[in-house]
This record gives sequence, structure tokens and C-alpha cells, in this order.
Amino acid sequence: MRITELRKRVGRTDLYVKDLYIESGKVHGLVGPNGCGKTTLLKVIMGLIEPDAGTIDYEGLKPTDITMMSQRPYLMHTSVYDNLVYPLRIRGAAIDEKKMDELLERTGLLPQKQQYAGSLSSGERQKLSFLRAIVFHPKMILMDETLSNLDTESEKLFREMIQEQHRADGSTWLIVSHQWDEMNALFDEVHHMEKGRIVK
Ligand SMILES: Nc1ncnc2c1ncn2[C@@H]1O[C@H](COP(=O)(O)OP(=O)(O)OP(=O)(O)O)[C@@H](O)[C@H]1O
Ligand SMILES: [Mg+2]
Repeated sequence: MRITELRKRVGRTDLYVKDLYIESGKVHGLVGPNGCGKTTLLKVIMGLIEPDAGTIDYEGLKPTDITMMSQRPYLMHTSVYDNLVYPLRIRGAAIDEKKMDELLERTGLLPQKQQYAGSLSSGERQKLSFLRAIVFHPKMILMDETLSNLDTESEKLFREMIQEQHRADGSTWLIVSHQWDEMNALFDEVHHMEKGRIVK
């Protein structure tokens, strides 16, 4: 995916991405201080907000090929299980119940399978939102600070699961993170952002 001459003014921040290439099949990190425009950039890529100018060449990726895990995950007012399988249902894909249980088991959510998703703790919400993002094997996954609320053990598990999925399906990841030390090993490329600009 190539982003060219992209501009978006939000409040006092002027997002300007002259030329950013997100090579497919790689795990990309997006790092930078609070308020520099990372979330805004992800939202523009996701098509949630309209840029003021510029172009994004998705290189054949369709909107349904991309998923975004937001900094504040939105869950539907249904059970954990219904949230998990939702991306498969809307795509008319088969649901492998054994696989669903395995995913829930691995993240410790199996006992909560039928629980109302709105009653999950904040870390559990993030786990569910992560599973919901990877369950349909999207070609591109945008993750916005999604690991920041997790305990060390869960964070490690997520890193392993990202690595596994990436190896298995060659998906492209763009991950916003402040946990530099832990995440660095995962990144093939890192893009640094400051005051709305990609600086290196
Ligand atoms: N709708 C809006 N109206 C006004 N200002 C906005 C709006 N959306 C974002 N901003 C501002 O734009 C700047 C960039 O926000 P953004 O959420 O992209 O930052 P970020 O890099 O993701 O920061 P963080 O690391 O804290 O998540 C911030 O100063 C924010 O207050
Ligand atoms: Mg943000």
C-alpha cells in the first residue's frame, strides 16, 4: 500500500504524509508521541475519515480485506461468541467451532463464551477484539495500541499469535505501539511519526 501526499487537518494537528510505503506481507510498526496523528492516519487508511488531499493506493486490497483494532474497542451488544464469529458471518464464511473454542481457550475467554460482551473487563475486551480481528484472516490488520492494557503474560501471548498468523498467511500488519522494547523484535519495519509527519 502506498500513501502519497496525504493531508488531513484535525484540530491543531496537520497530518501530512508525503510518501509512505507499507510493503505487503510485513509487520510494520508505527511509533510516535501522544497526539502526533497515529490514530488519525489509521482511520484514514481504514476509510473511517476522509482525507483533505492525497491518495492511497491499496494495491488491490478491498475494504473487506482490512481490519482495524481500535484503541478503544467497540464490541456489539451480544455474547462473546457472537462477537467473535461476526466477521465470519458477514462474509458468509464457514465457522469452525473447534477452532473458535481453541482461540477462546488460548486467550482465557472460553468460560466467558456465552457472557454478554459488554460485561467483560477492559483487558478481556481487548482480547476479544483481537480475536475478532484475526478470526477471518484479513490481508491487512491495523492495530492501534491494542496491547497496552494487557498483563505481561497476555501481551506475550498476543505477540506470539501475531507472529504465528503472520507466518501462516503472510498478512500485512501496521501496529501502533509504545511498548518499544517488547514489540521491536516483531517489526520488520518501523515508521516514526512526529507532529503529523513521518520522520523516518
Ligand atoms: N475530531 C477531532 N477534532 C479535533 N482534534 C482532533 C480530532 N481528532 C484528533 N484530533 C487531534 O489530533 C491530534 C492527533 O490525534 P491522534 O488521535 O491521531 O493522535 P495519536 O498519535 O493517535 O495519539 P495517542 O498516542 O495519544 O493515541 C491530537 O492532538 C488530537 O487531539
Ligand atoms: Mg492514538
